[in-house]
Amino acid sequence: MQTTFVRPNAAGARTLPASWYTAPEVFAAEEERIFRRAWLCVGRAETIRNPGDFFAVERAGESLIVTRDLSGVVHAFYNVCRHRGTRICTAPSGHFQGSIQCPYHAWTYALDGELKVARNMAEVSGFDRSEYPLKEAGVALWEGFVFVNLASRDGFEEVFEPLIGRFAPWEIASLETARSVNYELACNWKLVFMNYSECYHCPLVHPQLDKLSPSDSGRNDLSEGPFLGGYSTMRERGTSLTTTGRSSRPPLGSVGGEQLDRVYYYTIFPSLLLSLHPDYVMVHYVKPVAADRTEVVCAFLFDPRTMARPGFDPADAVEFWDLTNRQDWRVNELTQLGLRSRAYSPGPYSNAEGLLSAFDRHYLPIMEAQ
Ligand code: FES
Ligand SMILES: [Fe+2]
Repeated sequence: MQTTFVRPNAAGARTLPASWYTAPEVFAAEEERIFRRAWLCVGRAETIRNPGDFFAVERAGESLIVTRDLSGVVHAFYNVCRHRGTRICTAPSGHFQGSIQCPYHAWTYALDGELKVARNMAEVSGFDRSEYPLKEAGVALWEGFVFVNLASRDGFEEVFEPLIGRFAPWEIASLETARSVNYELACNWKLVFMNYSECYHCPLVHPQLDKLSPSDSGRNDLSEGPFLGGYSTMRERGTSLTTTGRSSRPPLGSVGGEQLDRVYYYTIFPSLLLSLHPDYVMVHYVKPVAADRTEVVCAFLFDPRTMARPGFDPADAVEFWDLTNRQDWRVNELTQLGLRSRAYSPGPYSNAEGLLSAFDRHYLPIMEAQ
């Protein structure tokens, strides 16, 4: 992996004016310009391993059913019946027994979306079942993650070109989710991204993290564009970010050399935070719900062979990060409170916050484009 050193913040770069974090109009514009157009990570493919397995997600005001058809292809269907528009599925996850049926008049769709049964409609002149499949959003799979796109069915590879193959040693596609923790935050989604992108706050906010991995050890290797991040170094080889600082789990995949001393952290605009530890991968799925509300699901992925060992327990990782997450959410919520004040005015980024001004440089042109 190519590495470069911390890129000092562009001279004079400051935080954005408050309305970017607080105004409902800005949030509405973000839904339109970002969340209805970008590739959004919504979960893991291994949770829908068999045909008919599904989970439902809401993003940017749309409900989608993510499921696998009989030939193994993953689809993200709009959760909208082609008859009179009724929401079809209300369960958060489950299994379709071979077909997807609307609860209103029982129009029934195959797992690939095709309308198979429409009661009494054969008598309706001009009606042709083949014209009414479930509508689909774009779907892409990368490293076992499911991405959806509300505007486009293709183009994922172009956007994700800088990341494809980059994390091969961790073999993320083969990992499975051992635990997920849900959080509701009273802050803007961008504060979650920004907070994740700097460790200027770590000595104060995360003493237990600082003890294992020094706050000033961060080095960025992606410092411009939609994907930002790099690594921090562990104080001691063979340690990991856990409640004990140790791990009895073997390294993932072919992770070796200096990767054993590091934790890699990346923001994947605008929906995912990816943290690669030697022995596990943590992800945050970030879902904005209002200018000052964000839902985050923090999931912990392990090698299924390690999970199958007697006595496997992910609690040392989950508890370490649950504490760290809560420490972060607290300062993010305090920031949101300050942003609501008339006394707030943009403040200068430190040299340890170069990725935050890089985020702004990527974000603002999307929002300001005509
Ligand atoms: S609205 Fe779905 S079958 Fe009538
Ligand atoms: Fe933090």
